[in-house]
Amino acid sequence: MECLQTWPEPIVRVQSLAESGINKVPDRYIKPLSQRPTTITTSTCKTSNYLKNNNNCEFSEVNIPVIDLQNLSSDEEMLCNMSDACREWGFFQVVNHGVSHELMKKARETWTEFFNLPLESKQEYANSPKTYEGYGSRLGVEKGVVLDWSDYFFLHFMPPSLRNYSKWPKLPPSCRKVIAEYGEEVVKLGWKLLKLISINLGLKEDHLQKSFGGEENVGACLRVNFYPKCPQPDLTLGLSSHSDPGGMTILLPDEHVPGLQVRRGDDWVTVKPVPNAFIVNIGDQLQVLSNAVYKSVEHRVIVNSVKDRVSLAFFYNPKSDLLIEPAKELVTEDRPALYPPMTFDEYRLYIRTKGPCGKAQVESLTSPR
Ligand code: OGA
Ligand code: NI
Repeated sequence: MECLQTWPEPIVRVQSLAESGINKVPDRYIKPLSQRPTTITTSTCKTSNYLKNNNNCEFSEVNIPVIDLQNLSSDEEMLCNMSDACREWGFFQVVNHGVSHELMKKARETWTEFFNLPLESKQEYANSPKTYEGYGSRLGVEKGVVLDWSDYFFLHFMPPSLRNYSKWPKLPPSCRKVIAEYGEEVVKLGWKLLKLISINLGLKEDHLQKSFGGEENVGACLRVNFYPKCPQPDLTLGLSSHSDPGGMTILLPDEHVPGLQVRRGDDWVTVKPVPNAFIVNIGDQLQVLSNAVYKSVEHRVIVNSVKDRVSLAFFYNPKSDLLIEPAKELVTEDRPALYPPMTFDEYRLYIRTKGPCGKAQVESLTSPR
């Protein structure tokens, strides 16, 4: 793919823009009216309230289902709650997940430190659309599009053969070690979750793990998002509406700064993170594998004028060259396969070219061909 070699325009770091003291958001970041966070649709209208002190429209925060992994698969009620959450929300939070709280805190602090380094130290890792690895400020390569108010750092963690340590930040000094430890733990959690989701779908407990390529081959990438505070948060988005293209996402949200919004029908609800929990969501590949029994759900990130926000999204994906298709057990005469087989490598080209586009990609697969 020729078009994926370089960015179409010079890259501007949103953090530098924010720190330059501008009091207006440049046109490049101003979303059309229909996408702005202040666009009130039906019931959000009643729940939103306007914060006059920081000129920011704040939405009330909502609790999304919390799943306690303490007793794991022996616990019918837990499995049931997880199944309901997957069907009704596409999102849930997990507690007693096995990842050390200390390590979660360290990971957050280390990455905050990274983004607070001088620009030159970060530019060393400037990324290109070829692999997306490194320090980036846009998703998609189409010229002239409206950009999101965020920077990020993206790296491959699994399979180990894709780990490119030279692209992991060497500063702050603890960074590489923390990524390795954190990645290891979160991969273990992802593995457990895949098993539970398989059981809930009525598949063999290792069905999804196998479809993802087995323990050695499963793909896992880390995307650390940095959402700088924004002088006009009601005109832009930190991350535009999208569904995650991969299998499943395990998000460590900012403890102190809300921002993640999940679509519920015509509304957007702001997620209220439970302390020390991860937020898990179903990605497009699980929608395909489950033949749409579970669906990926659109989400986006709003920004605010008071605080920067940092989140760590760990994407758990099928091995990139395996064909992903609906599980045979979930395909019947009444419910034929909704999606053609496709590798994740092919699939993710769409978002890497076009940038975040709601659920346009996965929905296009089922439209008449
Ligand atoms: C993502 C994402 C949400 C957040 O990186 O795909 O949806 O809260 N992030 O940063
Ligand atoms: Ni996402």
